[in-house]
Amino acid sequence: MTEFKRPDGRKEDEMREIKAKVGIIPNADGSAMYQSGDTIAIAAVYGPKKMHPQHKQNPKKGVLRCTYNMNSFSVSDRIRPGPSRRSTEISKIIEWALEPVLDLDKYPNTVIDVHINIIQADAGTRCAGINAASMALAHAGVPMKDLILSISAGKLDKTIVLDLSKEEEDFEDGEGATDIPISMTNSGELTHLQLDGKINSKQLKKAIEMARKSCKKIYDVQKKALKDAVNVGDN
Ligand code: CDP
Repeated sequence: MTEFKRPDGRKEDEMREIKAKVGIIPNADGSAMYQSGDTIAIAAVYGPKKMHPQHKQNPKKGVLRCTYNMNSFSVSDRIRPGPSRRSTEISKIIEWALEPVLDLDKYPNTVIDVHINIIQADAGTRCAGINAASMALAHAGVPMKDLILSISAGKLDKTIVLDLSKEEEDFEDGEGATDIPISMTNSGELTHLQLDGKINSKQLKKAIEMARKSCKKIYDVQKKALKDAVNVGDN
């Protein structure tokens, strides 16, 4: 380990504090909140339901439709409401990260809508959104082969660290900041990896290794939140 210090005093492989809750939106078929430090994501699932317009129906399988949105009040500089290039790209990435654990061929001609809202942002919002969506899908009773766990690793002052905050993401080390959001199943199969910046293969391996360890903890948090929701429902 190096002498490198993170602004909030965390260790290199230390995530921010995480919190999760399932069943936060009564009208939805499934819903969840996932918080990592100051980043808070909520997800609401509606469906599977008949896909409209009809020409978008797929007779072979259902469609997973994710809509990622950062609320205008989620950061101190108000974000312009409505879709943007960034939100369209992140919505697609979230679909790709989640699809491998869903059996969409069981639901031909339908759509499963997953609305992800970032109500407070301090970096890592796509990962928080994926974690919230994973729990919301399970809560909606959509059959899943596994849960999806997501965390971002990055390079800070040539050191690989886990779960960067916005302050850390903005840090420029001369080579540009590096951010690596990673998503995987609990059995360790990667379903999503993005790499923004420069990194060598040894550093990338280390980043994935760190992410793997923290995903075990995220799994426990997701599972506990889902179990708590079932227990409340039983009473
Ligand atoms: O949020 P994530 O790390 O997945 O994606 P990003 O595009 O790398 O954004 C990093 C962070 O920049 C966000 O979490 C927000 O804190 C901030 N951001 C912002 O302040 N205004 C935007 N329009 C987009 C992002």
